[in-house]
Amino acid sequence: MTFQSIGRPSVEVVIVQDAKAGGELIARGIADLLRRKPGALLGVATGSTPLPVYEALTAQVRAGDVDVSRARIAQLDEYVGLPAGHPESYRSVVLREVVEPLGLSPDSFMGPDGSAEDVQAACEAYDAALAAAGGVDLQLLGIGTDGHIGFNEPCSSLASRTRIKTLTERTRVDNARFFGGDIAQVPHHVITQGIGTILEARHLVLLATGEGKAEAVAATVEGPVAAVCPASALQLHPHATVVVDEAAASKLKLADYFRHTYANKPAWQGL
Ligand code: GLP
Repeated sequence: MTFQSIGRPSVEVVIVQDAKAGGELIARGIADLLRRKPGALLGVATGSTPLPVYEALTAQVRAGDVDVSRARIAQLDEYVGLPAGHPESYRSVVLREVVEPLGLSPDSFMGPDGSAEDVQAACEAYDAALAAAGGVDLQLLGIGTDGHIGFNEPCSSLASRTRIKTLTERTRVDNARFFGGDIAQVPHHVITQGIGTILEARHLVLLATGEGKAEAVAATVEGPVAAVCPASALQLHPHATVVVDEAAASKLKLADYFRHTYANKPAWQGL
């Protein structure tokens, strides 16, 4: 038995075999949360990484293992300026990948308005709406190759609130695959929950898979808390879980310690 898991470390690292196992582990954690709190507000992320989570959760729902009918869904970030209904707007993606497969109504879903004329007002309204909804219970996060969470690019303030940001070239190149490989189609501007906003969620769960994320994961978990790696802000949170596959864990110096700790974690503690 180790103190790291019992006392809840600021960042708990769970190394799993592959993306599917990571998705299943997190989906079980979400199902446990919904059994305790059926109306929980789930913060969801976009990108390819979280898809196995949504698939595993949908499978649990179809098998009748969990009732998600009262769950509420909150979006993490959004492109600015895409026409309403664009298939790659994050609103469309979350509706398609999460809300519809889970059989939820679009009324249970909230997100920032990326086509608002007054973007700043839309950002403030979203922060206020999250607070009015009681706050996010579990925020699922992916990570950018540059260490961003949401769309908080390197050197974002660790205290930032929801606001407009400019994407780095690297992120636009990474995300071009969703726009037919054409970087010119990737917006330059986005709305993202700020790092301060994200840190208000009661539980942060970051999933990272693949070799391409290994450096960002090591900086997040083992590097200093620094705005240059926005995900390192997870170290400031009292309940943050980082789930990584073997490839994404490949640059962690403390990998063996993390494996040992998780293997000895008491079952009652859950995710
Ligand atoms: C985008 C999203 C992030 C996501 C990141 C990584 O930039 N705003 O929330 O974590 O992509 O995406 P992927 O999981 O596809 O690598």
